Amino acid sequence: MIPPIFSPAADRYENGMKYRRCGRSGILLPEISLGLWHNFGDVDTLANSLKKAHYAFDHGITHFDLANNYGPSYGSAEETFGTIMEKSFRPYRDELFISTKAGHDMWPGPYGDWGSRKYLFASLEQSLRRMKLDYVDIFYSHRFDPQTPLEETLQALVDIVRQGKALYVGISKYPKEAADFAYNYLAERDVPCLLYQGRYNIFNREPEQEGILADAKEKGCGFIAFSPLAQGLLTDRYLNGIPEDSRVARGGFLKKEALTDETIAKIRRLNEVALRRGQTLAEMSLAWVLKDDLVTSVIIGASSVEQIERNLKALDNTSFTPEELSEINEITLA
Ligand SMILES: NC(=O)c1ccc[n+]([C@@H]2O[C@H](COP(=O)([O-])OP(=O)(O)OC[C@H]3O[C@@H](n4cnc5c(N)ncnc54)[C@H](OP(=O)(O)O)[C@@H]3O)[C@@H](O)[C@H]2O)c1
Repeated sequence: MIPPIFSPAADRYENGMKYRRCGRSGILLPEISLGLWHNFGDVDTLANSLKKAHYAFDHGITHFDLANNYGPSYGSAEETFGTIMEKSFRPYRDELFISTKAGHDMWPGPYGDWGSRKYLFASLEQSLRRMKLDYVDIFYSHRFDPQTPLEETLQALVDIVRQGKALYVGISKYPKEAADFAYNYLAERDVPCLLYQGRYNIFNREPEQEGILADAKEKGCGFIAFSPLAQGLLTDRYLNGIPEDSRVARGGFLKKEALTDETIAKIRRLNEVALRRGQTLAEMSLAWVLKDDLVTSVIIGASSVEQIERNLKALDNTSFTPEELSEINEITLA
C-alpha cells in the first residue's frame, strides 16, 4: 500500500501560534517549540513520533530542537527526525527551523565530546546525515568547554556557517562571562549569536539571577528556554504518585529523588495558583516563562499529542498580575 502523503493543515499559521523576533535578527520563532531530547528515540514508536511532529507543525510549531545525542540511543532522535523529513516534512523544509548541537558525550575516544573543532565538524556531518538534511538552521555549542580555547570552539561555529552547513549559530548553558566573550567574538566575524539556550522555569531561575537573560537581550541575542516544565514536575503529572508511563518511572535524567515532600508541597500550591488563573499548572508554567520579552520561545518536550495540545493553551494567557508573580516567588524562592 502506498503510505498516505502528509498534508499539513491549511490554517497552520492561523491557529493561535504567535511568533517572536529572535534578538536583533530576521528570524521569528514560535512561542512554543518542540524538543526531541526524549520521546523520539529508538525506544519510542515511530507512529507516535510522526503524530506529534505532524500535530506540532499543523499548529504553527515551526521550530524543532535536536542534538547529536538525543534518544536514547544516541543519535536516534536525529534518525527519527530524518524519517519524518523523508515521510512528511521534505516539501516544507523552508517552513521549518531545525537545530542541532554538539558538546556532550557522543562517541568514544578523545574526539567525541566537548568543544574541539574536530568534534564539532565531525558531529555536524553525522547529524546532517542522520536528519537527511543539507544544512541546519542553527547549530549550537551544547556546553562551555573549560579546557578548549573558546576561540577554537567559536571559530568552528563561524566556519560551519561559512561552509553553509548552518545558517545561524548559538550557545547553550554557557556561563555569563563565556557567553559575553562568544557574543563579541561571533559579532566581530559577522556571524552573530542567534540564540542562547538555557534551562529556565519557575523552579530554575539561574538565567534571571545570573543576568544571562538581560545580557542576551542587550547583546541582541535571543533566549530560548529548555525544560520549561522542569521535565514534567511543573504539571499535574506527579500530584498523585508516579504514573507508570512517566519520565520519573522510566528512569534517566529525572530521578525519583527530585520528588521530595517539599517539592510536592510546592507543586500543589502552584497548582492552586494556576487553577485560580483558569489554567492547568503546565499552562501557567509555560505562560510564566513567556511573560515578558526576555524569552523568545520555550522548548517543550512531549510524550503524547495530547500534551502538545494542552500546552499550546498556555498561549491564551501569558500575563500575570504583580500579586500572582509575588505569590509564585513566595512559593518557589522561599
Ligand atoms: N541545551 C540543553 O542542554 C538541553 C537540555 C535539556 C533539554 N533541552 C531541550 O529542551 C527540550 C525540552 O526539555 P524537557 O523535555 O525537559 O521539557 P519539559 O517541557 O520541561 O518536560 C517535558 C516532559 O514533561 C511532561 N509533560 C509535558 N507536557 C505535559 C502536560 N501537559 N501534562 C503533564 N505532563 C507533561 C512529559 O513527561 P512524561 O514523559 O512523563 O509524559 C514531557 O516529556 C528537549 O527536548 C531539548 O530539545 C536542551
